[in-house]
Amino acid sequence: MSDTEGMDGLAVTACERCSDLVESRSRIVNGDGPADAAVLFVGEAPGATEDAEGKPFVGRSGDVLDDELRDAGLARADVRITNCVRCRPPENRDPTSEELANCRPYLEREVELVDPEVVVTLGKVPGEHLLGRDVAVTSETGSVERVDLGGEPRDVLVCLHPAATLYDRSQAEAFTRTIEKAATMAGGSGGQSRLGEF
Ligand code: URA
Repeated sequence: MSDTEGMDGLAVTACERCSDLVESRSRIVNGDGPADAAVLFVGEAPGATEDAEGKPFVGRSGDVLDDELRDAGLARADVRITNCVRCRPPENRDPTSEELANCRPYLEREVELVDPEVVVTLGKVPGEHLLGRDVAVTSETGSVERVDLGGEPRDVLVCLHPAATLYDRSQAEAFTRTIEKAATMAGGSGGQSRLGEF
């Protein structure tokens, strides 16, 4: 399937496929979290904080996600988080279809290696990129579709972007339910293993 040259295990170490992004990025932001995580979250692209720190979802959206993960019994350290595109787009614009396509082999390889129980798309861009169709995230959050990804059919759980809950508090409840569903689909391992500590 894929052209993963420039990838070392799960990390892309060198890539110049997207001329705009080579200019706008400070660094390549690879996925973060256990290489065998049961849940793989997929966002759109790194923002300014992610570009500065070199990790996905470490800005305000990351704080929202971390809080919800904790409430659902899934520590951030238990899950893997990555993006459709690993370099920050200029002015935080959406990645183009060409940029998404250029980065896709890396994402496919990451899914293949991590082999998660569930892939959770955070927001419209990753939802549409992985489902290959238009997605109305607000109404579809919490729905699951079987998709060929990383070499085999996998469950993809559509989810709102965490930032949506900052702009619109009415979306917070749906976001919480979807993260809870992700935890259940992952076997509730985060919550159960931590309960076992007490
Ligand atoms: N939003 C994303 O889609 N990805 C990040 O890494 C941060 C914010």
